[in-house]
Amino acid sequence: QSNEFQHMIEAHTLAANFYSHLLLNTVEGEKALHYLEQRGFSRDHIEKYGIGWSLDDREVLTQLLQRKKFDMKEMERAGLCIMKNDGTGYFDRFRGRIMFPLHDDNGNVVAFSGRILTNTKEEAKYLNSPETPIFEKSRLLYNFHHARLNVRKTGKVILFEGFMDTISAERAGVMNSVAVMGTSLSDTHLTKLKRIANQLIICCDGDNAGWEAAKRFALLSSEKGLDAQIALLPGKMDPDEYISTYGGEAFTDKILGNPHSYMSFIMAYYKRSKNLSHENDVLQYIHEVMEELARKVSPIERDLMIRQLSSETGVSKEALNEQLMKKVGTLA
Ligand code: GTP
Ligand code: MN
Ligand code: MN
Ligand code: MN
Ligand code: MN
Repeated sequence: QSNEFQHMIEAHTLAANFYSHLLLNTVEGEKALHYLEQRGFSRDHIEKYGIGWSLDDREVLTQLLQRKKFDMKEMERAGLCIMKNDGTGYFDRFRGRIMFPLHDDNGNVVAFSGRILTNTKEEAKYLNSPETPIFEKSRLLYNFHHARLNVRKTGKVILFEGFMDTISAERAGVMNSVAVMGTSLSDTHLTKLKRIANQLIICCDGDNAGWEAAKRFALLSSEKGLDAQIALLPGKMDPDEYISTYGGEAFTDKILGNPHSYMSFIMAYYKRSKNLSHENDVLQYIHEVMEELARKVSPIERDLMIRQLSSETGVSKEALNEQLMKKVGTLA
């Protein structure tokens, strides 16, 4: 089995080098290189992250692996190749995509995520390697091996939803960020982060999915005993879009430099969908915030939130406190 591990990692390393060569040195890779340049990727970044291009061809990686005498059954289990329907051979899993290698904690390439060049409804924007003996989604954090030292030094880690955001953040000088692959944050992820950081800043996309993810991530982190704050983006922007629009300094100063506590985030979360000049919305908002306040908040934070709630809704602090005490009473 450890032999199989070794072969799978060797094959991924070979594939990553091959994809990188196709992107940087061939005519076929020019369109993809152009796309990356337009998105603000420098040559340095492309090389540091090992980004590549998989040809729009069914078998070019498969043939390379065969020439190098890799066992094709093993390559299928590694997620690089897929067996043809008639069982007469194999073809490449990734075709015509920008290839982002995913590294394990030691910096070995263990999987890929491939992005299509032009978003369409028919095809998934990102195609990831399947789970394999060397790749577990609930274990891997994008950029962990690069960020680890900086996280240890600062005690702080930034968590993004998308690995593109991690690469962009580096342009803003943020060297201590990681991203989940997809939207679920696992206990294993948190254990890894908690071991090297005591402070987590969650920075999800500004769209609905991002707000929901931020709430989930924040709850999971606090259950894990990891002090989490939430950095919010204006509009529906994601971190990469924000950095491209307003620059890296604005991102580190205004966004990462001004994160919200869980309660402050949760108030913004509930306020988002409401119009506070409507009485019904005000009542609903107070109800939702009270539910949270009654459960888990320090006296100081409770006081701060009551003040804010009062000034946002025009309801007196006394009335809000009274309401809250009733709620706490029914929970006790
Ligand atoms: P860009 O559109 O290239 O800027 O990517 P993004 O980082 O903004 O991606 P998005 O916010 O749409 O999604 C965040 C993360 O969810 C991505 O990094 C992926 O890990 C995952 N994801 C998004 N779309 C897909 C998809 O179509 N398939 C899979 N498997 N994962 C996806
Ligand atoms: Mn690396
Ligand atoms: Mn998103
Ligand atoms: Mn995004
Ligand atoms: Mn994006």
